[in-house]
Amino acid sequence: MPESAPWWKSAVVYQIYPRSFADTDGDGIGDLEGIRRHLDHLQWLGVDAIWISPFFRSPMADFGYDVADYCDVDPIFGTLDDFGRLVHEAHERDLRVLIDWVPNHTSDQHPWFVESRSSRDNPKRDWYIWVDGSPDTPPDNWKAAFSAGAPAWTWDERTCQWYLHLFLAQQPDLNWRNPEVVAAMHDTLRFWLDRGVDGFRMDVVHALVKREGFPDVDNPWLSTDRFDEPAVHERIRGFRTLLDGYPGDRVSVGEVFILSTARVAEYYGNNDELHLAFNFPPLFAPWEAAKWRKRVDRVVEEFDPRGAWPTWVLSNHDNPRHRTRYGGSEARARAAAVLLLTLRGTPFLYQGEELGLTDAEVPPERQVDPGGRDGCRAPIPWDASPLHGWPGDPWLPWPPEPDTRNAEVERDDAGSVLHLYRRLLAARRNSPALRLGDWAPLPSPDGVLAYQRVLEDDRRVVIVNFTDDSHPLDVAGDCAVEVASDGVGEGEPYSGTVDGNQAVVLRRS
Ligand code: GLC
Repeated sequence: MPESAPWWKSAVVYQIYPRSFADTDGDGIGDLEGIRRHLDHLQWLGVDAIWISPFFRSPMADFGYDVADYCDVDPIFGTLDDFGRLVHEAHERDLRVLIDWVPNHTSDQHPWFVESRSSRDNPKRDWYIWVDGSPDTPPDNWKAAFSAGAPAWTWDERTCQWYLHLFLAQQPDLNWRNPEVVAAMHDTLRFWLDRGVDGFRMDVVHALVKREGFPDVDNPWLSTDRFDEPAVHERIRGFRTLLDGYPGDRVSVGEVFILSTARVAEYYGNNDELHLAFNFPPLFAPWEAAKWRKRVDRVVEEFDPRGAWPTWVLSNHDNPRHRTRYGGSEARARAAAVLLLTLRGTPFLYQGEELGLTDAEVPPERQVDPGGRDGCRAPIPWDASPLHGWPGDPWLPWPPEPDTRNAEVERDDAGSVLHLYRRLLAARRNSPALRLGDWAPLPSPDGVLAYQRVLEDDRRVVIVNFTDDSHPLDVAGDCAVEVASDGVGEGEPYSGTVDGNQAVVLRRS
């Protein structure tokens, strides 16, 4: 049975932030052709799918998360033909392609909003959220994200109403209570499904429908009290029906930014809502075994009874990279790779973590993101040349040590972080237990997390030592080290001890 599970359960997804991945036209901003030219590298690495952050037409107030046309490629990134070629060549390499769908808001330059804003009686007025009020007092205490404490409402001088934006003022929220919006946005999904995409990462999908009356809330940035959850779930069931109507197991992975695993689990519905949802509490956990154990247990408790398949993510384009968060240590970053790729669920890698990158230090005069997220968006260094494989200076500074932490140098070094990721991905590919097996904790000393993954007669034991000290840990039966985070002892019998900051994958010898 499990081997016939949909592809996305055993896949590893690689997130591409296209501005920073690879440039081919010399404008310092990555493009779709740059992704196409590196598909061989991703295939060599051994990932199964890519998720590409937004590349749609956009004035780039939020670097593409402000969409002005859902059905076209921004000229900065290329053309629809470039996208077609990319999908075709990815599929030739057995790489699936997910794209980022941003349904909560459009750009204020989207023709829908331009019309909506033009007059109170425009037919698209009700496609966005407009409310009456006095120009001096926003309708409630909601705050806009990434906006230095500004309200989530902007007063429109011409038509004398407020419009809602959970993010920047240039990102007005769509009115998902309007059936015309639902239909138009369904069409945008079909547009890309018809072009062969394998699924969507759905941006802030838990937030689509707002609570009637827009009540004041305790936490004006994060509170889910701002949203009408029954209605949100109903909209998500609509997306699910649409996706499941296409052949080939198209997948939805929702960015459900709620820091409660129990609440995130609800977004899988009764196997009729999201196929996958990001669960961020582990991303925000410190590098401590006990904290991680608790986060993993929460996932088991909340997801298993629903048959919900977990996801794991350590880094993305919105947060400092995990190596940076964990103090910069390469040994920890390596151990974290073992953890990420051996828990039960679908792992998401963020471009550059396979190179062991830390965040760039971005001097104030080069900071561009209103949300302060530039550091993790630094360009990928492809080689040791002065421009690291880019045709011109990229839009953000390089991450630290690009002369050695780059794809070419690490590819030539069997001991590199890059090769560790490759060995881990190969180990997953060869082991049904690692891909789809059950997860069970094993007794372990403080500071160490040990677990086994089992599927029929395939079994792996994983030990992750979060501390700086060695720890003895007995595992029943003779085992050999299949992958070690530091490469030490691979292929040899397990010694009975894990070194400080080491993580190992063991198989029965
Ligand atoms: C999501 C994206 C983030 C973006 C925001 C608004 O959180 O990951 O990058 O700024 O939504 O679209």
